Amino acid sequence: MSQFDVGVRREGTHCLKWDERKAVFGREDVIPLWVADMDFAAPEPVVRALIERAQHGAFGYSGHDPRDVQAVVRWMKQRHNVDVAEDAVLFSPGVVDSLRIAVAAVSKPGDAVVVLTPVYGPFYSAVEDAGCVIRRSPLLDTPNGWMIDFDDLETALREGARAVLLCNPHNPVGRVWTREELERVSALTRRWNAALIADEIHADLELPGFKNTSVTAVNPDAMAFISATKTFNLAALRHSSAIIPNPERRKAFQEEYNRRGINGLNLFGALAQRAAYEEGAPWLDELLEYLDGTRRFVESFLAERLPVIRPSRLMGTYLMWLDMRKLGLEPDDLARFLVEKAGLGMTSGSFFGPEGAGFMRLNIATPRRNVERAMEQLETALKDAGLC
Ligand SMILES: Cc1ncc(COP(=O)(O)O)c(C=O)c1O
Repeated sequence: MSQFDVGVRREGTHCLKWDERKAVFGREDVIPLWVADMDFAAPEPVVRALIERAQHGAFGYSGHDPRDVQAVVRWMKQRHNVDVAEDAVLFSPGVVDSLRIAVAAVSKPGDAVVVLTPVYGPFYSAVEDAGCVIRRSPLLDTPNGWMIDFDDLETALREGARAVLLCNPHNPVGRVWTREELERVSALTRRWNAALIADEIHADLELPGFKNTSVTAVNPDAMAFISATKTFNLAALRHSSAIIPNPERRKAFQEEYNRRGINGLNLFGALAQRAAYEEGAPWLDELLEYLDGTRRFVESFLAERLPVIRPSRLMGTYLMWLDMRKLGLEPDDLARFLVEKAGLGMTSGSFFGPEGAGFMRLNIATPRRNVERAMEQLETALKDAGLC
């Protein structure tokens, strides 16, 4: 039995995913399979580092510890084989904050910014809140998986889009973009003089057989935002890193960051990130094997018992993208059916834009028995409703 089969009981810890079920789904007994965090305890070295620091007892303002940056540089080299200079690393409370700052830093109000849809909801507000115009470039759902529509991307750039926002790997469709794909995106942004901004928060969550490439490895002018928070389940500690090798871009990012009056960083967030990067790799390797086992379980359950639902191949992230369009329900009815009849709290595809209508996103980062129970409940509800 794996440590991930045991998991950790989160109810009663003021945890969004479990304790806010009534507010989010109208029922407190749904199996929560929505917000992107995990029902697993962080690696032991992380917990230990936090306890040791907490025992010191004084938590006044803290400065930068150079070991925090060195840990990021080493992690990027060892895990992703990318050479990152220490100067290129900045810290930020969250990846969404960084995205918003980056869009504002490279554009001016009225500029078009490309997003590859469907995509994580805050991408849209990052563009709109900078006064920019969203240029959607829908991903193509092909027999070989989700693909970037390069012709459309080039059209958008030719028409003047100032930046491309990439989700690498892509939430919600679960694609790990190949190096070749990233090189093509990069060549297009260079050709049309647009900025390349990548949310790489899921980069470490590459399932066996897939290797994520950082955009900064193919384009030194790109900006990449990474974090240990998704990888090691530290989201509430609010700490992330920005990798911006180009000094001018970095200066623009830093100025926009300062303009927003964000100052100081969470001591515990920085400490947890360092401990995770320095000592968390074995835990992560085990996690990825476990997630892959759960992914295989869901795929075979659906293929054998619910072929009306089609999962996209999960390559990265722990978020499975399920095509439920063949059930023939309107998106709101589908979400309601899953809550009321199946007792499942998943994320509705519409959160990711209109291209997500009829899809649901399933978070599998929970002990496998919860996912097994979810699949059983889904089958029963669909059978009872005559939908399969
Ligand atoms: C693609 C993506 N980016 C960013 C975030 C949130 O990042 P942060 O909490 O660091 O702002 C998430 C969380 O689900 C995500 O899936």
